[in-house]
Amino acid sequence: MINLLNNKKLLKYGSYINGEWIVDGNYFDVINPYNGETLAQMSGCNPQIINKSIESADQAMSTWKTLTARERNEYLIAWYDKIIENKEDLSIILTLEQGKPIKESRAEISYGAEYLKWFAEEAKRIYGDVIPASVSGKKILVTKEPIGVVAAITPWNFPNAMITRKVSAAMAAGCSVLVKPSELTPLSALALAELAHEAGIPEGVFNVIITDKPQEFANEVIASKIVKKLSFTGSTRVGKLLMTQCGHEIKRLSLELGGNAPFIVFEDADLENAADQCVASKFRNTGQTCVCTNRIFVHKSIYNLFLELLQDRLNSLKIGNGLDENTDIGPLINSAALKKVENLQQEAIEKGAHIITGGNVIGKLLIEPTILCEVNTDMAIYHQEIFGPIATIIKFETEEEVIEMANDTEYGLASYFFSKDYAKVWRVAEKLQYGMVGINTGMLSMVEGPFGGIKQSGFGREGSKYGIEEYLNLKYLCLGGLD
Ligand code: SIN
Repeated sequence: MINLLNNKKLLKYGSYINGEWIVDGNYFDVINPYNGETLAQMSGCNPQIINKSIESADQAMSTWKTLTARERNEYLIAWYDKIIENKEDLSIILTLEQGKPIKESRAEISYGAEYLKWFAEEAKRIYGDVIPASVSGKKILVTKEPIGVVAAITPWNFPNAMITRKVSAAMAAGCSVLVKPSELTPLSALALAELAHEAGIPEGVFNVIITDKPQEFANEVIASKIVKKLSFTGSTRVGKLLMTQCGHEIKRLSLELGGNAPFIVFEDADLENAADQCVASKFRNTGQTCVCTNRIFVHKSIYNLFLELLQDRLNSLKIGNGLDENTDIGPLINSAALKKVENLQQEAIEKGAHIITGGNVIGKLLIEPTILCEVNTDMAIYHQEIFGPIATIIKFETEEEVIEMANDTEYGLASYFFSKDYAKVWRVAEKLQYGMVGINTGMLSMVEGPFGGIKQSGFGREGSKYGIEEYLNLKYLCLGGLD
Protein backbone atom coordinates (compact mmCIF):
# COMPACT_ATOMS: atom_id res chain seq x y z
CA MET A 1 0.00 0.00 0.00
CA ILE A 2 2.74 2.41 1.02
CA ASN A 3 4.26 2.17 -2.48
CA LEU A 4 1.14 3.70 -3.98
CA LEU A 5 1.52 6.90 -1.97
CA ASN A 6 3.66 9.97 -2.61
CA ASN A 7 3.40 11.29 0.93
CA LYS A 8 4.28 8.20 2.98
CA LYS A 9 3.79 10.15 6.23
CA LEU A 10 0.03 9.89 5.66
CA LEU A 11 0.05 6.27 6.78
CA LYS A 12 -0.34 6.08 10.54
CA TYR A 13 -1.19 3.16 12.81
CA GLY A 14 -2.30 4.62 16.13
CA SER A 15 -4.33 7.43 17.67
CA TYR A 16 -3.47 11.12 17.33
CA ILE A 17 -3.91 12.72 20.74
CA ASN A 18 -2.70 16.11 21.92
CA GLY A 19 -0.38 16.38 18.91
CA GLU A 20 1.21 12.95 19.47
CA TRP A 21 0.90 9.54 17.87
CA ILE A 22 -0.04 6.82 20.37
CA VAL A 23 0.69 3.17 19.59
CA ASP A 24 0.00 1.01 22.61
CA GLY A 25 -1.09 -2.56 21.83
CA ASN A 26 -4.74 -3.61 21.29
CA TYR A 27 -4.03 -4.39 17.65
CA PHE A 28 -6.66 -5.01 14.99
CA ASP A 29 -6.54 -5.33 11.22
CA VAL A 30 -7.81 -2.99 8.53
CA ILE A 31 -8.99 -4.98 5.51
CA ASN A 32 -9.26 -4.02 1.84
CA PRO A 33 -12.87 -5.02 1.03
CA TYR A 34 -12.04 -5.61 -2.64
CA ASN A 35 -9.54 -8.44 -2.13
CA GLY A 36 -9.63 -9.22 1.61
CA GLU A 37 -5.97 -8.26 2.07
CA THR A 38 -4.81 -6.77 5.36
CA LEU A 39 -3.85 -3.15 4.71
CA ALA A 40 -2.59 -2.28 8.18
CA GLN A 41 -2.52 -3.31 11.81
CA MET A 42 -3.95 -0.58 13.98
CA SER A 43 -3.29 0.03 17.62
CA GLY A 44 -6.45 0.81 19.60
CA CYS A 45 -6.83 3.02 22.69
CA ASN A 46 -7.88 1.79 26.10
CA PRO A 47 -10.36 3.75 28.26
CA GLN A 48 -7.55 5.37 30.31
CA ILE A 49 -6.03 6.89 27.18
CA ILE A 50 -9.46 8.05 26.03
CA ASN A 51 -9.90 9.82 29.36
CA LYS A 52 -6.54 11.51 29.11
CA SER A 53 -7.42 12.67 25.60
CA ILE A 54 -10.60 14.29 26.93
CA GLU A 55 -8.55 16.20 29.49
CA SER A 56 -5.99 17.39 26.95
CA ALA A 57 -8.76 18.43 24.56
CA ASP A 58 -10.28 20.48 27.36
CA GLN A 59 -6.94 22.11 28.06
CA ALA A 60 -6.43 22.88 24.37
CA MET A 61 -9.87 24.40 24.05
CA SER A 62 -9.16 26.97 26.73
CA THR A 63 -6.78 28.68 24.28
CA TRP A 64 -8.46 27.74 20.99
CA LYS A 65 -11.75 29.40 21.93
CA THR A 66 -9.97 32.66 22.72
CA LEU A 67 -8.41 32.97 19.27
CA THR A 68 -10.01 35.47 16.97
CA ALA A 69 -12.33 34.14 14.30
CA ARG A 70 -9.75 35.20 11.71
CA GLU A 71 -7.06 33.11 13.44
CA ARG A 72 -9.28 30.03 13.53
CA ASN A 73 -10.16 30.69 9.90
CA GLU A 74 -6.47 30.71 8.96
CA TYR A 75 -5.79 27.39 10.69
CA LEU A 76 -8.74 25.74 8.94
CA ILE A 77 -7.66 27.13 5.57
CA ALA A 78 -4.11 25.86 6.14
CA TRP A 79 -5.57 22.40 6.78
CA TYR A 80 -7.75 22.69 3.68
CA ASP A 81 -4.67 23.55 1.57
CA LYS A 82 -2.79 20.50 2.88
CA ILE A 83 -5.74 18.24 2.02
CA ILE A 84 -5.94 19.59 -1.52
CA GLU A 85 -2.15 19.17 -1.95
CA ASN A 86 -2.49 15.52 -0.86
CA LYS A 87 -5.78 14.81 -2.60
CA GLU A 88 -4.58 11.91 -4.74
CA ASP A 89 -2.93 10.07 -1.83
CA LEU A 90 -5.98 10.60 0.37
CA SER A 91 -8.20 9.23 -2.41
CA ILE A 92 -6.06 6.11 -2.75
CA ILE A 93 -6.13 5.45 0.99
CA LEU A 94 -9.90 5.94 0.99
CA THR A 95 -10.49 3.53 -1.89
CA LEU A 96 -8.19 0.91 -0.41
CA GLU A 97 -9.88 0.80 2.97
CA GLN A 98 -13.46 1.54 1.92
CA GLY A 99 -13.68 0.10 -1.58
CA LYS A 100 -15.39 3.00 -3.36
CA PRO A 101 -14.36 3.79 -6.95
CA ILE A 102 -11.36 6.12 -7.09
CA LYS A 103 -13.33 8.83 -8.92
CA GLU A 104 -15.82 8.85 -6.04
CA SER A 105 -12.97 8.99 -3.52
CA ARG A 106 -11.57 12.05 -5.29
CA ALA A 107 -15.01 13.62 -5.17
CA GLU A 108 -15.27 12.82 -1.46
CA ILE A 109 -11.90 14.43 -0.66
CA SER A 110 -12.93 17.63 -2.46
CA TYR A 111 -16.38 17.55 -0.84
CA GLY A 112 -14.84 16.96 2.60
CA ALA A 113 -12.27 19.73 2.18
CA GLU A 114 -14.98 22.17 1.12
CA TYR A 115 -16.47 21.92 4.62
CA LEU A 116 -13.22 23.24 6.09
CA LYS A 117 -13.25 26.18 3.72
CA TRP A 118 -16.94 26.87 4.34
CA PHE A 119 -16.75 26.80 8.14
CA ALA A 120 -13.48 28.73 8.13
CA GLU A 121 -15.59 31.55 6.72
CA GLU A 122 -18.56 30.86 8.99
CA ALA A 123 -16.24 31.31 12.00
CA LYS A 124 -16.28 35.00 11.12
CA ARG A 125 -20.07 35.17 11.13
CA ILE A 126 -20.94 34.01 14.64
CA TYR A 127 -23.14 37.03 15.22
CA GLY A 128 -25.22 37.88 18.27
CA ASP A 129 -28.36 40.00 18.58
CA VAL A 130 -29.68 43.11 20.25
CA ILE A 131 -33.38 42.64 20.96
CA PRO A 132 -35.78 45.49 21.88
CA ALA A 133 -36.90 45.03 25.49
CA SER A 134 -40.52 45.51 26.60
CA VAL A 135 -39.49 47.50 29.68
CA SER A 136 -37.51 50.72 29.81
CA GLY A 137 -33.98 50.86 31.21
CA LYS A 138 -33.05 47.41 29.93
CA LYS A 139 -31.31 46.02 26.90
CA ILE A 140 -31.47 42.43 25.75
CA LEU A 141 -28.28 41.11 24.19
CA VAL A 142 -27.60 37.63 22.83
CA THR A 143 -24.09 36.26 22.42
CA LYS A 144 -22.88 32.87 21.23
CA GLU A 145 -20.25 30.71 22.92
CA PRO A 146 -18.61 27.44 21.92
CA ILE A 147 -20.44 24.54 23.49
CA GLY A 148 -17.35 22.80 24.92
CA VAL A 149 -15.34 19.69 24.04
CA VAL A 150 -17.05 17.73 21.27
CA ALA A 151 -16.95 13.99 20.58
CA ALA A 152 -17.73 12.77 17.06
CA ILE A 153 -18.42 9.20 15.99
CA THR A 154 -18.10 8.87 12.23
CA PRO A 155 -19.06 6.11 9.76
CA TRP A 156 -17.14 3.96 7.29
CA ASN A 157 -19.09 4.99 4.19
CA PHE A 158 -17.53 8.49 4.04
CA PRO A 159 -14.30 8.07 6.02
CA ASN A 160 -13.10 11.57 5.17
CA ALA A 161 -16.05 13.90 4.55
CA MET A 162 -18.11 12.89 7.58
CA ILE A 163 -15.14 13.85 9.75
CA THR A 164 -14.48 17.22 8.15
CA ARG A 165 -18.21 18.01 8.05
CA LYS A 166 -18.44 17.71 11.83
CA VAL A 167 -15.06 18.96 13.01
CA SER A 168 -14.85 22.00 10.75
CA ALA A 169 -18.07 23.39 12.25
CA ALA A 170 -17.01 22.50 15.81
CA MET A 171 -13.52 23.94 15.44
CA ALA A 172 -14.77 27.10 13.73
CA ALA A 173 -17.11 27.59 16.69
CA GLY A 174 -14.13 27.39 19.08
CA CYS A 175 -14.49 23.79 20.28
CA SER A 176 -11.85 21.08 20.45
CA VAL A 177 -12.82 17.68 19.06
CA LEU A 178 -12.24 13.97 19.65
CA VAL A 179 -13.12 11.91 16.60
CA LYS A 180 -13.65 8.18 16.69
CA PRO A 181 -13.64 6.94 13.12
CA SER A 182 -15.12 3.57 12.18
CA GLU A 183 -12.73 0.72 12.98
CA LEU A 184 -13.26 -0.37 9.35
CA THR A 185 -11.78 2.84 7.93
CA PRO A 186 -9.36 4.47 10.40
CA LEU A 187 -6.59 5.20 7.87
CA SER A 188 -8.36 8.14 6.20
CA ALA A 189 -8.98 9.72 9.61
CA LEU A 190 -5.33 9.40 10.60
CA ALA A 191 -4.17 10.82 7.27
CA LEU A 192 -6.38 13.83 8.02
CA ALA A 193 -4.74 14.07 11.45
CA GLU A 194 -1.27 14.06 9.90
CA LEU A 195 -2.31 16.94 7.65
CA ALA A 196 -3.86 18.83 10.57
CA HIS A 197 -0.50 18.41 12.31
CA GLU A 198 1.41 19.64 9.25
CA ALA A 199 -1.01 22.58 8.98
CA GLY A 200 -0.06 23.59 12.52
CA ILE A 201 -3.46 23.05 14.17
CA PRO A 202 -2.59 23.51 17.86
CA GLU A 203 -2.10 20.28 19.77
CA GLY A 204 -5.18 18.87 21.49
CA VAL A 205 -7.68 20.73 19.29
CA PHE A 206 -8.19 17.89 16.80
CA ASN A 207 -7.76 14.34 18.08
CA VAL A 208 -8.40 10.96 16.48
CA ILE A 209 -9.12 8.09 18.83
CA ILE A 210 -8.61 4.66 17.33
CA THR A 211 -10.42 1.71 18.82
CA ASP A 212 -12.27 -1.34 17.55
CA LYS A 213 -14.49 -1.14 20.64
CA PRO A 214 -16.84 1.72 19.75
CA GLN A 215 -18.94 1.25 22.87
CA GLU A 216 -15.89 1.92 25.08
CA PHE A 217 -15.36 5.27 23.40
CA ALA A 218 -19.07 6.13 23.66
CA ASN A 219 -19.16 5.16 27.35
CA GLU A 220 -16.18 7.34 28.21
CA VAL A 221 -17.25 10.46 26.34
CA ILE A 222 -20.87 10.21 27.46
CA ALA A 223 -19.93 9.71 31.11
CA SER A 224 -17.47 12.61 30.98
CA LYS A 225 -18.60 15.94 32.41
CA ILE A 226 -16.05 17.64 30.16
CA VAL A 227 -17.49 16.47 26.85
CA LYS A 228 -20.51 18.65 26.18
CA LYS A 229 -21.68 17.38 22.83
CA LEU A 230 -21.79 14.16 20.85
CA SER A 231 -22.27 14.13 17.10
CA PHE A 232 -23.00 10.75 15.56
CA THR A 233 -23.51 9.51 12.02
CA GLY A 234 -24.55 5.88 11.74
CA SER A 235 -27.47 3.53 12.19
CA THR A 236 -30.79 4.43 13.80
CA ARG A 237 -30.33 1.46 16.17
CA VAL A 238 -27.07 2.82 17.60
CA GLY A 239 -28.40 6.40 17.51
CA LYS A 240 -31.24 5.38 19.82
CA LEU A 241 -28.83 3.79 22.29
CA LEU A 242 -26.60 6.87 22.32
CA MET A 243 -29.60 9.14 22.83
CA THR A 244 -30.70 7.13 25.84
CA GLN A 245 -27.19 7.23 27.31
CA CYS A 246 -26.79 10.96 26.65
CA GLY A 247 -30.04 11.59 28.52
CA HIS A 248 -28.33 10.88 31.86
CA GLU A 249 -25.97 13.84 31.46
CA ILE A 250 -28.35 15.95 29.31
CA LYS A 251 -25.55 16.00 26.77
CA ARG A 252 -26.20 17.86 23.50
CA LEU A 253 -26.53 15.49 20.58
CA SER A 254 -26.70 15.56 16.78
CA LEU A 255 -27.81 12.38 15.06
CA GLU A 256 -27.52 11.68 11.37
CA LEU A 257 -29.09 8.24 11.05
CA GLY A 258 -30.59 5.91 8.49
CA GLY A 259 -32.83 6.71 5.54
CA ASN A 260 -35.35 5.09 3.22
CA ALA A 261 -35.35 7.60 0.39
CA PRO A 262 -38.23 7.55 -2.08
CA PHE A 263 -37.46 8.52 -5.68
CA ILE A 264 -40.69 9.43 -7.48
CA VAL A 265 -40.90 9.69 -11.26
CA PHE A 266 -44.11 11.45 -12.28
CA GLU A 267 -45.60 11.05 -15.75
CA ASP A 268 -44.52 14.58 -16.80
CA ALA A 269 -40.87 14.17 -15.76
CA ASP A 270 -37.88 14.53 -18.07
CA LEU A 271 -37.27 10.79 -18.15
CA GLU A 272 -33.71 10.89 -19.48
CA ASN A 273 -32.73 13.17 -16.60
CA ALA A 274 -34.69 11.09 -14.09
CA ALA A 275 -32.90 7.92 -15.22
CA ASP A 276 -29.46 9.60 -15.01
CA GLN A 277 -30.20 10.97 -11.57
CA CYS A 278 -31.62 7.66 -10.41
CA VAL A 279 -28.33 5.93 -11.25
CA ALA A 280 -26.34 8.71 -9.56
CA SER A 281 -28.43 8.58 -6.41
CA LYS A 282 -28.99 4.82 -6.19
CA PHE A 283 -25.50 3.59 -7.03
CA ARG A 284 -23.28 6.22 -5.39
CA ASN A 285 -20.78 4.39 -3.20
CA THR A 286 -22.34 1.10 -4.39
CA GLY A 287 -25.62 2.08 -2.75
CA GLN A 288 -23.96 2.61 0.62
CA THR A 289 -24.99 6.14 1.56
CA CYS A 290 -27.74 7.27 3.92
CA VAL A 291 -29.20 9.44 1.17
CA CYS A 292 -29.16 6.75 -1.53
CA THR A 293 -32.44 6.17 -3.28
CA ASN A 294 -34.11 3.19 -1.61
CA ARG A 295 -37.54 2.92 -3.26
CA ILE A 296 -38.23 4.01 -6.85
CA PHE A 297 -41.88 4.89 -7.54
CA VAL A 298 -42.70 5.12 -11.25
CA HIS A 299 -46.00 6.31 -12.72
CA LYS A 300 -47.76 3.50 -14.58
CA SER A 301 -47.99 5.49 -17.85
CA ILE A 302 -44.19 5.74 -18.22
CA TYR A 303 -43.25 2.59 -16.30
CA ASN A 304 -41.93 0.51 -19.20
CA LEU A 305 -40.09 3.39 -20.84
CA PHE A 306 -38.39 4.42 -17.60
CA LEU A 307 -37.30 0.84 -16.90
CA GLU A 308 -35.74 0.61 -20.36
CA LEU A 309 -33.80 3.83 -19.77
CA LEU A 310 -32.62 2.61 -16.39
CA GLN A 311 -31.62 -0.79 -17.75
CA ASP A 312 -29.57 0.83 -20.54
CA ARG A 313 -27.64 2.84 -18.01
CA LEU A 314 -27.01 -0.12 -15.71
CA ASN A 315 -25.65 -2.16 -18.59
CA SER A 316 -22.79 0.31 -18.98
CA LEU A 317 -21.74 0.33 -15.29
CA LYS A 318 -18.40 -1.34 -14.66
CA ILE A 319 -17.99 -3.33 -11.46
CA GLY A 320 -14.65 -4.19 -9.87
CA ASN A 321 -11.58 -2.88 -8.07
CA GLY A 322 -12.11 0.70 -6.90
CA LEU A 323 -8.53 1.56 -7.85
CA ASP A 324 -9.34 0.93 -11.52
CA GLU A 325 -10.14 4.31 -13.14
CA ASN A 326 -13.13 2.82 -15.02
CA THR A 327 -14.85 1.20 -12.05
CA ASP A 328 -18.34 2.51 -11.22
CA ILE A 329 -19.38 -0.08 -8.63
CA GLY A 330 -16.97 -1.33 -5.97
CA PRO A 331 -17.34 -4.00 -3.29
CA LEU A 332 -19.65 -3.83 -0.32
CA ILE A 333 -17.86 -3.07 2.92
CA ASN A 334 -17.89 -6.60 4.41
CA SER A 335 -19.55 -10.00 4.34
CA ALA A 336 -22.25 -8.98 6.85
CA ALA A 337 -23.30 -6.19 4.46
CA LEU A 338 -23.40 -8.62 1.55
CA LYS A 339 -25.46 -11.13 3.51
CA LYS A 340 -27.97 -8.45 4.48
CA VAL A 341 -28.42 -7.33 0.86
CA GLU A 342 -28.71 -10.92 -0.38
CA ASN A 343 -31.31 -11.75 2.27
CA LEU A 344 -33.41 -8.69 1.44
CA GLN A 345 -33.31 -9.55 -2.25
CA GLN A 346 -34.14 -13.22 -1.65
CA GLU A 347 -37.08 -12.45 0.63
CA ALA A 348 -38.49 -9.99 -1.93
CA ILE A 349 -38.22 -12.61 -4.70
CA GLU A 350 -39.97 -15.19 -2.52
CA LYS A 351 -42.81 -12.69 -2.06
CA GLY A 352 -43.23 -11.99 -5.79
CA ALA A 353 -40.58 -9.45 -6.85
CA HIS A 354 -38.50 -10.26 -9.91
CA ILE A 355 -35.08 -9.24 -11.20
CA ILE A 356 -34.87 -7.71 -14.68
CA THR A 357 -31.15 -6.84 -14.54
CA GLY A 358 -28.25 -8.03 -12.38
CA GLY A 359 -28.83 -9.88 -9.14
CA ASN A 360 -25.64 -11.93 -9.02
CA VAL A 361 -22.74 -11.90 -6.62
CA ILE A 362 -19.70 -11.92 -8.91
CA GLY A 363 -16.77 -11.67 -6.54
CA LYS A 364 -16.04 -11.81 -2.86
CA LEU A 365 -18.06 -8.71 -1.98
CA LEU A 366 -19.10 -7.57 -5.44
CA ILE A 367 -22.76 -7.61 -6.32
CA GLU A 368 -24.11 -6.62 -9.74
CA PRO A 369 -26.16 -3.43 -10.01
CA THR A 370 -29.66 -4.83 -9.93
CA ILE A 371 -33.21 -3.81 -10.84
CA LEU A 372 -35.89 -5.52 -8.80
CA CYS A 373 -39.48 -4.98 -10.03
CA GLU A 374 -42.91 -5.55 -8.48
CA VAL A 375 -41.69 -4.61 -5.01
CA ASN A 376 -44.47 -4.03 -2.49
CA THR A 377 -45.09 -3.14 1.14
CA ASP A 378 -45.06 -6.78 2.33
CA MET A 379 -41.35 -7.00 1.64
CA ALA A 380 -38.59 -6.06 4.09
CA ILE A 381 -36.65 -4.42 1.24
CA TYR A 382 -39.42 -1.80 0.99
CA HIS A 383 -39.03 -0.78 4.64
CA GLN A 384 -35.34 -1.25 5.39
CA GLU A 385 -32.33 0.73 4.28
CA ILE A 386 -30.78 -1.56 1.64
CA PHE A 387 -27.21 -0.15 1.62
CA GLY A 388 -26.41 -2.02 -1.57
CA PRO A 389 -26.79 -1.67 -5.36
CA ILE A 390 -30.38 -2.93 -5.66
CA ALA A 391 -32.89 -0.60 -7.33
CA THR A 392 -36.40 -1.52 -6.16
CA ILE A 393 -39.25 -0.45 -8.45
CA ILE A 394 -42.86 0.20 -7.45
CA LYS A 395 -45.62 1.25 -9.87
CA PHE A 396 -48.08 3.99 -8.84
CA GLU A 397 -51.19 5.63 -10.28
CA THR A 398 -52.02 8.84 -8.39
CA GLU A 399 -50.16 11.67 -6.68
CA GLU A 400 -52.01 11.13 -3.38
CA GLU A 401 -51.19 7.42 -3.40
CA VAL A 402 -47.48 7.93 -4.06
CA ILE A 403 -47.10 10.63 -1.41
CA GLU A 404 -48.74 8.35 1.12
CA MET A 405 -46.41 5.48 0.17
CA ALA A 406 -43.33 7.72 0.16
CA ASN A 407 -44.10 8.97 3.67
CA ASP A 408 -44.97 5.53 5.01
CA THR A 409 -41.64 4.95 6.75
CA GLU A 410 -40.08 5.66 10.10
CA TYR A 411 -37.25 7.47 8.31
CA GLY A 412 -37.15 11.08 7.08
CA LEU A 413 -33.74 11.87 5.64
CA ALA A 414 -33.63 12.39 1.84
CA SER A 415 -36.35 12.15 -0.81
CA TYR A 416 -36.41 12.86 -4.53
CA PHE A 417 -39.04 13.50 -7.17
CA PHE A 418 -39.18 14.41 -10.83
CA SER A 419 -41.80 16.57 -12.49
CA LYS A 420 -41.95 19.57 -14.82
CA ASP A 421 -45.27 20.82 -13.45
CA TYR A 422 -44.51 23.76 -11.12
CA ALA A 423 -47.73 23.53 -9.14
CA LYS A 424 -47.07 19.84 -8.53
CA VAL A 425 -43.44 20.55 -7.61
CA TRP A 426 -44.50 22.88 -4.82
CA ARG A 427 -47.38 20.67 -3.65
CA VAL A 428 -45.32 17.48 -3.46
CA ALA A 429 -42.28 19.21 -1.91
CA GLU A 430 -44.49 20.47 0.91
CA LYS A 431 -46.09 17.10 1.54
CA LEU A 432 -42.97 14.95 1.66
CA GLN A 433 -42.03 14.34 5.29
CA TYR A 434 -38.27 14.50 4.87
CA GLY A 435 -35.44 16.79 5.97
CA MET A 436 -34.19 17.03 2.37
CA VAL A 437 -36.04 16.97 -0.94
CA GLY A 438 -34.26 16.72 -4.29
CA ILE A 439 -36.48 18.08 -7.08
CA ASN A 440 -35.39 16.99 -10.56
CA THR A 441 -32.05 15.98 -9.07
CA GLY A 442 -30.78 12.93 -7.25
CA MET A 443 -27.74 14.67 -5.79
CA LEU A 444 -28.37 17.17 -3.04
CA SER A 445 -25.24 16.96 -0.88
CA MET A 446 -23.23 20.17 -0.91
CA VAL A 447 -21.64 22.27 1.80
CA GLU A 448 -24.05 25.18 1.40
CA GLY A 449 -27.16 23.06 2.06
CA PRO A 450 -28.35 21.96 5.54
CA PHE A 451 -27.86 18.18 5.62
CA GLY A 452 -30.03 16.27 8.07
CA GLY A 453 -33.22 14.42 8.72
CA ILE A 454 -36.43 14.25 10.71
CA LYS A 455 -38.32 11.34 12.34
CA GLN A 456 -36.02 8.38 13.07
CA SER A 457 -33.37 9.73 10.71
CA GLY A 458 -32.26 11.97 13.56
CA PHE A 459 -31.91 15.68 14.20
CA GLY A 460 -29.37 18.45 13.88
CA ARG A 461 -28.01 19.89 10.65
CA GLU A 462 -24.55 19.68 9.12
CA GLY A 463 -23.08 22.12 6.61
CA SER A 464 -24.75 25.39 5.57
CA LYS A 465 -25.13 28.46 7.78
CA TYR A 466 -27.07 26.30 10.26
CA GLY A 467 -24.32 23.73 10.90
CA ILE A 468 -22.24 25.89 13.22
CA GLU A 469 -25.19 26.47 15.57
CA GLU A 470 -24.92 22.82 16.66
CA TYR A 471 -21.67 23.72 18.41
CA LEU A 472 -22.72 27.00 20.03
CA ASN A 473 -24.62 27.95 23.17
CA LEU A 474 -26.75 31.05 23.22
CA LYS A 475 -26.19 33.39 26.12
CA TYR A 476 -28.82 35.99 26.99
CA LEU A 477 -27.49 39.14 28.65
CA CYS A 478 -30.06 41.40 30.25
CA LEU A 479 -28.42 44.75 30.83
CA GLY A 480 -30.37 46.81 33.35
CA GLY A 481 -30.02 50.15 35.11
CA LEU A 482 -29.97 52.13 31.89
CA ASP A 483 -32.67 54.67 32.89
C1 SIN B 1 -24.11 9.79 4.38
O1 SIN B 1 -24.39 8.84 3.70
O2 SIN B 1 -24.19 9.73 5.61
C2 SIN B 1 -23.65 11.12 3.82
C3 SIN B 1 -23.85 11.26 2.39
C4 SIN B 1 -23.56 12.65 1.87
O3 SIN B 1 -23.02 13.52 2.56
O4 SIN B 1 -23.92 12.87 0.73
